[in-house]
Amino acid sequence: MSVITNIEDLRLLAKRRVPRMFYDYADSGSWTEGTYRANEEDFKRILFRQRVAVNIDRRSTAATMLGEKIAMPVAIAPTGMTGMQHADGEILAARAAQKFGVPFTLSTMSICSLEDIARYVPGPFWFQLYVLRDRVFVERLIDRARAAGCSALMLTLDLQVLGQRHRDIKNGLSAPPKPTLANLINLATKPRWCVGMLGTPRRHFGNIFGHVDGVKDMTSLGSWTAQQFDPTLNWTDIEWIKKRWGGKIILKGILDAEDAQFAVDAGADALVVSNHGGRQLDGAPSAIAALPAIVDAVGSKIEVWMDGGVRSGQDVLKAWALGAKGCLIGRAFLYGLGAMGEAGVTRALEIIRNELDLSMAFCGHRSLDTVDRRILLER
Ligand code: GLV
Repeated sequence: MSVITNIEDLRLLAKRRVPRMFYDYADSGSWTEGTYRANEEDFKRILFRQRVAVNIDRRSTAATMLGEKIAMPVAIAPTGMTGMQHADGEILAARAAQKFGVPFTLSTMSICSLEDIARYVPGPFWFQLYVLRDRVFVERLIDRARAAGCSALMLTLDLQVLGQRHRDIKNGLSAPPKPTLANLINLATKPRWCVGMLGTPRRHFGNIFGHVDGVKDMTSLGSWTAQQFDPTLNWTDIEWIKKRWGGKIILKGILDAEDAQFAVDAGADALVVSNHGGRQLDGAPSAIAALPAIVDAVGSKIEVWMDGGVRSGQDVLKAWALGAKGCLIGRAFLYGLGAMGEAGVTRALEIIRNELDLSMAFCGHRSLDTVDRRILLER
């Protein structure tokens, strides 16, 4: 691979280096993948107003999310099975994020555990929680997140049932992969990945394995997770979670202004406008299309963030202009991780910050503080 200059370069390299089932898991959406594609396509339709002859010397992309000072308004999204894109993936990504100065969110469905991140990465991180039927386990998970020093809890609201992802079913997705002939043939073409995986003990769902009675091997774990996502989850549950946690809370997966108001009423500190990267309800609007109405409805009462389709600093700037005080990146960092481990995540963050900085300059701004919808062309 020649010089890496953008997120697409990282994606292509990750596709070469990561076993197919895990690359596909990251780079796919549900059903027709229409919403998954719209997340990126709708960003492309938004145009900037280029301004000239404005003093754009000495710029800064600094911002805050939940009052934390950060290098740019971007946080690492919670993504499942990150430690299957690259050995110890969550530890490496958390390290890259902390060195760079942006928040890292650990998924409930991570490979490295809460305790692993607390042990191997110095600063605080955020934890994403799925509400599972086993409420005793959920309570313990919340307590473990507090003990691990997490500074915010991100509650995902849009995965009470799982959107069907054709490729995961066809690939027989599992962590670790089952030793079928097709998998073995594919793994034989990914020597770097295999060497990394053989060198780490972290190959299972670290937050779950060993913490739930009856989960002793991967087969029982698979059926446990399939049964455990809780379809009864509703707004009254947020209250006890908030109480149990006692700290900052982020609600993720909101696409509708009415739900955004419920999030405000529930006392959330931030909400994430998200369609789960196009992995849940196919046919829902793109996140960037859903954002403005939610900002108009609740933007003065709560920090509104977004995720879905963010592949560049231009996308971050467009989202910011439309009122998102932060973007979560999922695939953009996963490609970096799969391509080059920690260095690849750092590269992805550098690429995005550089694009954000230069695009801000072309729009005539030195700081994000002065950027609003006026930098976009009215259509
Ligand atoms: C889990 O969050 C997934 O989207 O696979």
